[in-house]
Amino acid sequence: MSNGEIEQIQLAQPEIGPREEELVLEVLRSGRLSLGPMGERFEREFAAWLGSEDAVAVSSGTTALHLGVRALGWGPGDEVLTSPFSFVASANCLLYEGARPVFCDVDPETLNLDPGAVAAALGERTAGILPIHIFGFPAAMAELEALAAPGALAILEDACEALGAVDSEGKAVGTRGNLATFAFYANKQMTTGEGGMIVPAGAGAAARLRSERNQGRAADMGWLDHDGIGFNYRLSDLAAGLGVAQVEKLDSLLSRREAVADLYAQGLADVEGVDTPIAVRGSERRSWFVYVVRLGAGIDRDATIARLAERGIASKAYLPCIHLFPHLRELGYREGQFPVAEAASADSLALPFFPAMSEGQVDRVCRELAAAIRSR
Ligand SMILES: Cc1ncc(COP(=O)(O)O)c(C=O)c1O
Repeated sequence: MSNGEIEQIQLAQPEIGPREEELVLEVLRSGRLSLGPMGERFEREFAAWLGSEDAVAVSSGTTALHLGVRALGWGPGDEVLTSPFSFVASANCLLYEGARPVFCDVDPETLNLDPGAVAAALGERTAGILPIHIFGFPAAMAELEALAAPGALAILEDACEALGAVDSEGKAVGTRGNLATFAFYANKQMTTGEGGMIVPAGAGAAARLRSERNQGRAADMGWLDHDGIGFNYRLSDLAAGLGVAQVEKLDSLLSRREAVADLYAQGLADVEGVDTPIAVRGSERRSWFVYVVRLGAGIDRDATIARLAERGIASKAYLPCIHLFPHLRELGYREGQFPVAEAASADSLALPFFPAMSEGQVDRVCRELAAAIRSR
């Protein structure tokens, strides 16, 4: 840039424009800042975009998961099979209710729950399965549902990273009839700043979710009436204004993310020591959330991150394994239990990724990554 400074390329960047400003201003001027008509509109338009019957807006992906766990009744004595290669909230939501996350290793290609490992872990206490569509690649839902069916196990889908993904049967992630959760933090495919959504399994479930997110207030109740325990997990109408504007341009946001991913795949195709993520496999389609590569043996990831940072490029080790955090070690988890997940954790690197990334920026990241690897 001018005066010799290098242009910084950050990891993520939301896209907020005049339409977001217009709808947020509309809410500000309406005086309805908490639950209100914009939230209802956001739920309707999100469900219409996704192709689900309904959708319940909440304050985050984490609170969506928590209400999902409660809706399924998972609690003390219940074990839920899930992936150690995820963001920590997908295991914490079980701990909130006293259920035990039982981790199963992941598939080396998709980094999603390996159905074979799930089959091996099924036991008397298994109450359900909590698959995560990690980095936007659809989990093996048909196989997991087949494993769940004989014992009538419930499934809660963590689709927080996968809005817009399509599974092996051509279904949009979140529309299989399981409870599914989405998240709208600022680096996600669409954002409300903070926010989340639950796709309920049935009308009764939706009413309960709407009551629990609002301190246990059913739709026909006054502000100081409560029909059970609840939480303040409401999404404000201000955030919903952002959500409506983002849903309106979601197709464009997703296709531009895909175009950036294509540029990366081309730019990194010949870089030795860098493995790029798969975009499609049969009918399965990734919805691009982050661009995470795997580094080959002998490449020092920390040194690579430091070298990229010197060149103005942000990157991040993605993701630490959940079972190795202190509060899960307390349950007895240790290194070496999930070798595929642990290997991915040790060598994966997230590169800058957002829809407005230019061809020149992607090219620069690819060149600098190649140089960082060569210079080791
Ligand atoms: C897989 C996964 N689950 C849950 C969450 C939690 O979402 P939030 O940050 O909106 O609470 C996230 C988001 O970071 C996520 O990536």
